[in-house]
Amino acid sequence: MTHADRNAQLRMRLERFQGRTVAVTGASGSLGQALLQQLHAQGAQLIALTSSQTPLTLADAEGTPIPLEQISWRCGAEQELAPLLERCDVLVINHGINSHGDRSAAAVERSLEVNALSSWRLLELFASLKASRPREVWINTSEAEIQAAVSPLYEISKRLQGQLLSLRSLDLAGPNLRIRRLVLGPFRSALNPIGLMSASFVAREILRQVSWNCSLVIVTPNPLTYLLMPLATCSRWLYFRAVSQPAG
Ligand SMILES: NC(=O)c1ccc[n+]([C@@H]2O[C@H](COP(=O)([O-])OP(=O)(O)OC[C@H]3O[C@@H](n4cnc5c(N)ncnc54)[C@H](OP(=O)(O)O)[C@@H]3O)[C@@H](O)[C@H]2O)c1
Repeated sequence: MTHADRNAQLRMRLERFQGRTVAVTGASGSLGQALLQQLHAQGAQLIALTSSQTPLTLADAEGTPIPLEQISWRCGAEQELAPLLERCDVLVINHGINSHGDRSAAAVERSLEVNALSSWRLLELFASLKASRPREVWINTSEAEIQAAVSPLYEISKRLQGQLLSLRSLDLAGPNLRIRRLVLGPFRSALNPIGLMSASFVAREILRQVSWNCSLVIVTPNPLTYLLMPLATCSRWLYFRAVSQPAG
């Protein structure tokens, strides 16, 4: 490859999100921040959706502050985000919680609401908005969709999130809405302090696979996930298509 080709490739990588507005939920979390930094490096205009009131300040590799619009939201009030999401080209649904060993009724409710139901409601909302341009939604499930995560409610809620995504994608995905599923292995964060990978490595790999145009983005050291996850999504697709119908 010549120097000019390499420069052209680098320019393309840097400009991939130029002029595109990307909103990320769970923005103040480890992966949320890492994704915002990587997306900024590729030219995106950023909207940080956060349930926290603390101002989010991010800097690039040179220490220059990253411009971003910070918006507060809460699970259950997804509809209030409609005017904001109308301006977005890409929505990254990334927020999540891990109740670890808690199996109380309150933990069941919280896990289902945060990990599965609010994610599904945001997907429906984003898909329902009128847009004349192609848009994308990326949904961060987890390899807990198909593997043990030493956390029953995390597994149950992530499986529900993944299954709802498979079912509703049959109707919602189309030429104007690209849906990408992010299936991630363990990385270090408040949610998983002993994760093997770093959030910035995971964010870089996500964007690399997005640049390859993958709909199923898998980042994990576990080789089984690369085998089982495509099988799981494919068999769900066949089964849901065979036994369910679109509205009307
Ligand atoms: N860490 C792992 O090993 C791992 C592996 C696979 C998948 N994942 C998934 O990756 C995503 C990001 O997780 P992370 O590891 O970066 O964890 P994290 O640092 O704990 O970030 C999760 C973020 O979700 C948001 N959140 C938490 N509770 C919320 C609530 N009740 N309502 C709305 N937002 C809430 C918070 O961000 P705000 O305060 O900004 O709202 C929080 O910082 C999650 O969906 C997680 O399931 C993680």
